[in-house]
Amino acid sequence: MAWNSRVDHVAPFRVMHLLEMAQAREAAGFDVIHLEVGEPDFATPAPIIAAGQKALTNGHTRYTPAAGLPALREAIAGHYAEHFNATVDPARILVTPGASGALLLASQLLVETGSRVLMADPNYPCNRHFMALAGAEIDAVSVGRESGWQLDAAMVAQHWREETSLAMLASPSNPTGHTLSAQQLAAVLDAVAEREGEVIVDEIYQGLNYDDAPLSATSLSTNAFVVNSFSKYFGMTGWRLGWLVAPEHAVEPLTRLAQNMFLAAPTPSQHAALAAFTPECRAILEQRRETLKERRQVLLEGLASLGLAPDLPPQGAFYLWLDISRYSRDSQSFCERLLLEENVAITPGIDFAVRGGEHHVRIAFTNEVARLEEAVARIARFVSRL
Ligand SMILES: Cc1ncc(COP(=O)(O)O)c(C=O)c1O
Repeated sequence: MAWNSRVDHVAPFRVMHLLEMAQAREAAGFDVIHLEVGEPDFATPAPIIAAGQKALTNGHTRYTPAAGLPALREAIAGHYAEHFNATVDPARILVTPGASGALLLASQLLVETGSRVLMADPNYPCNRHFMALAGAEIDAVSVGRESGWQLDAAMVAQHWREETSLAMLASPSNPTGHTLSAQQLAAVLDAVAEREGEVIVDEIYQGLNYDDAPLSATSLSTNAFVVNSFSKYFGMTGWRLGWLVAPEHAVEPLTRLAQNMFLAAPTPSQHAALAAFTPECRAILEQRRETLKERRQVLLEGLASLGLAPDLPPQGAFYLWLDISRYSRDSQSFCERLLLEENVAITPGIDFAVRGGEHHVRIAFTNEVARLEEAVARIARFVSRL
């Protein structure tokens, strides 16, 4: 078939196969504990749902401007001013269909055939695919404990080549949950600027920070492309809403791309999201953050007793990235057996890592404490047989 050969580089999510297996087992009556899915288990906060319902009742069902509702762009700018001490001109904010929409726009603008992109390995797999679809080659730099599981300035210096045009960062990161410190982030931004490159900072898990106050690249630079979303902290995965903060000169071409690629983000979702920044909603979201923090602790303690705790506890997101090499060097079959023998669903590392994924797994703490405790007991039973 004469189709785009770049699509051949887009790998399927291995976890979807596991999810199907898990669902089949549930349908057969097994009690499966889900720790594989990368979305909060909480419902969208009630004030957001009410605002969405009102938008529908009031007939807000037509296109908005491509860059989004002016009121929402202003509300997002207000969020940066209030929580990050950052002055972001609303004109620099484009509202998109999820962070995915923002990544799509940025990838189309920033790379072309022959460009090279630096990113940490492990990483959110879609980043590789977005960049490859735009024609770029990926340089996935293995990271570990030494750099806090993040790409740092020294790595940028070491791996930057003449064709490199972009570095991608994510803080907190998926799959590790690790964050960049302000110092580390500033150093990477400087290292890239020195080389006249561009940076995308994915802050989609921002707000889900358990140890330190969240940080935003918007308070350090007006040149970074900063991706964010209503999916994770705000609990709105299915509403498909995110945003991109772009340097001023990039707004016009990005708006043209948005006009052509998706016209606009979903209108009812944009109206609903206006309620996300109210104090009432903030109180709900902060309560949820506390709940996630408690879950992180439960899992960390439970897994430590099995020799499976991460070398560095994650500071954010809702994931643990675990080295399972003392038990297995085949993460796919480790996860499949854990599901078939103990009904616990987790994600094989090969979804995220170019190197080392076969001896890592990702566990999402998107389940209640009692279920996490039960999961640890089941994992303990499972590894005792290996
Ligand atoms: C690091 C990262 N970036 C972007 C996304 C895309 O999220 P969404 O399009 O729902 O905003 C995800 C989703 O899991 C993610 O983990």
